[in-house]
Amino acid sequence: MTENENKKSVYVGMSADLLHHGHMNILRVARELGDVTVGLLTDRAIASYKRLPYLTYEERRGVVENIKGVVQVVPQETLDYVENLKKYKPAYVVHGSDWREGQQKETRERVILALAEWGGKLVEPEYTDGISSTRLINELKEVGTTPQVRMRQLIRLLQAKKIVRIIEAHNGLSALIAENVSVEKDGKKREFDGMWLSSLTDSTAKGHPDIEIVDRTSRFSTINEIMEVTTKPIIYDGDTGGVPEHFPYLVRTLERLGVSAVIIEDKLGLKKNSLFGTDVQQTQDTIEGFSFKIREGKKACVTSDFMIIARIESLIMGKSVEDAITRAKAYIESGSDGIMIHSCKKDGTDIRNFCEEYRKLKLHSPLVAVPTSYNQFTEEELGEMGINIVIYANHLLRSAYPAMKLTAETILKNSRSLEADAMCMSISDILTLIPGGK
Ligand code: SPV
Ligand code: MG
Repeated sequence: MTENENKKSVYVGMSADLLHHGHMNILRVARELGDVTVGLLTDRAIASYKRLPYLTYEERRGVVENIKGVVQVVPQETLDYVENLKKYKPAYVVHGSDWREGQQKETRERVILALAEWGGKLVEPEYTDGISSTRLINELKEVGTTPQVRMRQLIRLLQAKKIVRIIEAHNGLSALIAENVSVEKDGKKREFDGMWLSSLTDSTAKGHPDIEIVDRTSRFSTINEIMEVTTKPIIYDGDTGGVPEHFPYLVRTLERLGVSAVIIEDKLGLKKNSLFGTDVQQTQDTIEGFSFKIREGKKACVTSDFMIIARIESLIMGKSVEDAITRAKAYIESGSDGIMIHSCKKDGTDIRNFCEEYRKLKLHSPLVAVPTSYNQFTEEELGEMGINIVIYANHLLRSAYPAMKLTAETILKNSRSLEADAMCMSISDILTLIPGGK
């Protein structure tokens, strides 16, 4: 190869989250062809088809910039290379041969077509066997995470995704489902982005009503149980947050533990679950009173990664969208990092109206919805309305309980467990469900 050819530009697209010798092989081949530009996939590009990377874009860039042969690192904003290829017009694109099959096949074809426009070439070194980022991610899950890495994930997700998908967890086992369950849809991996520590399900799982009777020590023990076995971010249901003088202590503890956000509702006195709507007597806090609580909480925050989200109960109490909007403005002015708007109406028109009015305010603070009652809307539809976080607030416990009850009844009816066996997972499956038992 002549020196002149050595100066040719070479483009390599990568996530570079967990780098291994397979990546290094690609980069070695690339640098032998010329000056390497790495198109580093942004969080948004990665989150569009799989889990958010462990390292932030800046951290990943810092690593890649220092690899031999890399002359520049540029953001690749989409999974598709074409936009960047047209901009940089490289003589070569280097990519592992693994993308000839599977979900990246189409991307590959588009790359070949784009390169043909200026006579560029695709070079595909043999895929390195025996190592994969997916395997490394699974091993990282075993290693765990740190409070700070976990905490900042929610803000990163909000920046990277149109809608952040959260599901309730009330103990270690349900949290493992939230952490690990994954389905493939349209060639993309779908997972839950994080967990909601619901007061309803935590109380119910402990056999108590959802009236702030489960004390903080007990709820923190649930957090600990969940954190022991997961890495995804946690949003904590803080009920009313207690009296304003107590709320800062809750904030300090949650932030120290690595919880990403607390949501507190603008209710006073004996709290009852919102889904009772107006069937029960509940008192809404004054705007001044609740704003004061938010301010006290914000003063207690140590980092800017921890979020306090104000939950507005106006629609639950039969008040107007206008009342909810007035409160949203005041709570955000008081420092709230987002708004949860709640409703127990089935048709969702009040939520839709609220979102419309909220958008007009151009506040840019994330909106959270809990579509338990108005569950006909898909995440895409909620996203279109302007919702940024969707919480499936109680579904794992609600589905587990009927299954357990039916099994218990079946045993009672038959005076033995034979008939119930078909409803249960096998003994060998339960023994090996959690690795490490043998
Ligand atoms: C919870 O899950 O405890 C909530 C949401 O606060 S709701 O039950 O809808 O009030
Ligand atoms: Mg609750």
